[in-house]
Amino acid sequence: MKKMRLGLSMRYHGYHVAAWRHPDYVPGCNVDFRSYRDIARAAEAEKLDMIFFADGVAVRGTDQPEGALSHDMRNAELEPLTLLSAIAATTDHIGLVATASTTYNEPFHIARKYASLDHISGGRAGWNVVTSWSDQEALNFNKTENLPREERYARAAEFVQVAKGLWDSWDADAFTYDKDSGQFYDPAKMHVLDHHGAFFNVRGPLNSCRTPQGRPLIVQAGASNQGRDIAAQHADVVYTVSQTVEEARSFYADLKARAAEFDRIDNAPLIMPGITIYTGATQEEAQARFDELQALIDPLAGLNILYTFCGDLSGYDLDGPVPEHIFEDKITIGSGLLAKAKAENLTIRQLYESTAAGFTGRYIIGTAETVVDDLQHWFETGAADGFNICPPLLPQGMDDMSRYILPELRRRGLFRTEYEGETLRQNLGLS
Ligand SMILES: Cc1cc2nc3c(=O)[nH]c(=O)nc-3n(C[C@H](O)[C@H](O)[C@H](O)COP(=O)(O)O)c2cc1C
Repeated sequence: MKKMRLGLSMRYHGYHVAAWRHPDYVPGCNVDFRSYRDIARAAEAEKLDMIFFADGVAVRGTDQPEGALSHDMRNAELEPLTLLSAIAATTDHIGLVATASTTYNEPFHIARKYASLDHISGGRAGWNVVTSWSDQEALNFNKTENLPREERYARAAEFVQVAKGLWDSWDADAFTYDKDSGQFYDPAKMHVLDHHGAFFNVRGPLNSCRTPQGRPLIVQAGASNQGRDIAAQHADVVYTVSQTVEEARSFYADLKARAAEFDRIDNAPLIMPGITIYTGATQEEAQARFDELQALIDPLAGLNILYTFCGDLSGYDLDGPVPEHIFEDKITIGSGLLAKAKAENLTIRQLYESTAAGFTGRYIIGTAETVVDDLQHWFETGAADGFNICPPLLPQGMDDMSRYILPELRRRGLFRTEYEGETLRQNLGLS
């Protein structure tokens, strides 16, 4: 029976905007290695495929409405590759995936760092390829504004091609370490990339051996046509933010069809929509956990989340309708939000409340049975190969997975009881 793939998204210790105001949130955990380590180990004890850190290279929030920025927990975190390198040393099986920007990095740096993480972890590294979308990031990299989308994606496409080329610098058996002859490597098995393109000139080769996974896993997150094309050609896993099963099925079908155009039929990318789960022993308990966090939402923080996707809505009645114009020219991931606002006739307050509950992603409130019914439905009807679990609050959200969700998934034969392989690629069943 086909098994569901499951990852744990760990950023900010929670995907509820008010996670940090919860009584159980430990101040300082955002920069406390031991806290991340313990959550990663708990996820590994449950045989999850991977942990994931999303990332940005700036304080990306804007102080809109005024004062909002200082109410936002997303201002201080650890650099994810450094963090994953440390976690690699204290875990043995779980996949280690982090975002790195193609807009504000050089391919050689990224290829080298992820190759190193793949070696350090014994074949568990994954790179979430993103294009950076904020002007705040531009300001940290000698620019006054972000690159236009077309250019960002053209750069991203070439960036991935170069990184893959660098990872192919060496055959697996290139390094002979032949002490008798004095030859360290076989020159016939070293390949100089010598790339010349619109954005990058990179000679190579990479100063590393071929990595345990052949190359680190490539994950892609970005829903536009350009993003999907990169995913179809290069990604092993795709993260999405689909809100409804119909939207997810259409994305799934589209991406698998695009992958087929690159002759990727059996090895098409695995698609893992994000989901935030509120659960408990009973429906009432699950609802109470949700309500407890919702009651902690600061309206300033709520409007601030919407600002990224919709612009400044502070001039509108919070209990009035969401204005129509806001999604024009906005990034694609915002369009699902508008669809939801329209379909459910939401007010601005309701939109930010529903957005705050999963940082714009989909959320669900229910017992193990109802949550797993939902996941199974998506999994078995062509909407998902698995899920990127984005808990409302950590480590509590991982405890809830262990106590409620994973036993039910296993009871139905939907999730593994042991890791099947040594590397992330093997555990995901990828070639
Ligand atoms: C599920 C998902 C996860 C993402 N994670 C990150 C991230 O960690 N860091 C980042 O800078 N951008 C992230 N992005 C943003 C995308 O890379 C991209 O810039 C954005 O979605 C706009 O492009 P699009 O119109 O193709 O969606 C993410 C997007 C999605 C859909």
